[in-house]
Amino acid sequence: MTKMDHNAQTGRVFTLPDANAQATYLADWILEQALAKKDGFLSIALSGGSTPQKLYELLGSPAYARKMPWSRIHLFFGDERMVPPTHEASNHHMVNKALLSHIDIPFRNVHPMPTFADADDAAKIYQRELEIFYGNNQLDAAKPLFDIVFLGLGNDGHTASLFPKTPVLQEKTKWVSWCDPTTVPYRRLTLTYPTLASSRHVVFVVSGEGKKDILKAVRSGENDYPAAAISTTGELSWVIDKAASSE
Ligand code: 6PG
Repeated sequence: MTKMDHNAQTGRVFTLPDANAQATYLADWILEQALAKKDGFLSIALSGGSTPQKLYELLGSPAYARKMPWSRIHLFFGDERMVPPTHEASNHHMVNKALLSHIDIPFRNVHPMPTFADADDAAKIYQRELEIFYGNNQLDAAKPLFDIVFLGLGNDGHTASLFPKTPVLQEKTKWVSWCDPTTVPYRRLTLTYPTLASSRHVVFVVSGEGKKDILKAVRSGENDYPAAAISTTGELSWVIDKAASSE
């Protein structure tokens, strides 16, 4: 692994013909990672929004649901809207509908972000849950918290719920925090930069013509979009479809 792989500008780009091929590519890769993981659990931080739904539905389909070793996989969330888990805008609601309700995964292996408390308390509760899973309250670059972090990309350059011009962008100590975006509704909980960086693989999943310009801008690094500042101690990849590609 070269230095080349670590950040949003140098991460490798994998371009698939369309969103279906992108979902299949990712589902096959996750299965490969899960079957290859011999020591402990495979830990995945899921992204929200609409782009990854196709992937989650595929993982929940008979083609994959029965192949995946779900008892050895833990699913976390990269961010969450501060709404009830039954709310249409809830990422947990979306993941439950697309994936969790179709697979046999132990309840204790799924870690939704708490949205019942106020944001400060919810962030502390989730950080504690991450620390217990990790076995320490200090992140060690040599021991990533996640095996895989999936990230989306918003048209304003946000990722997870790291939105432009919000104080959470400066948070380098807490593992979980929150923000009040100005461009979309709902207060949001989010993993912070250091937590997202603590992963063997950070995978941006971006598709559609509408994301072409922002994707090109973020990868250029010639701006301060929040997604452009994502880096990792592991490898960073962009898995995109042809419609989102400028190549
Ligand atoms: C969320 C996501 C967010 C998302 C982007 C892209 O909770 O909304 O975590 O970061 O990935 O907004 O969303 P789309 O995939 O819907 O374009």
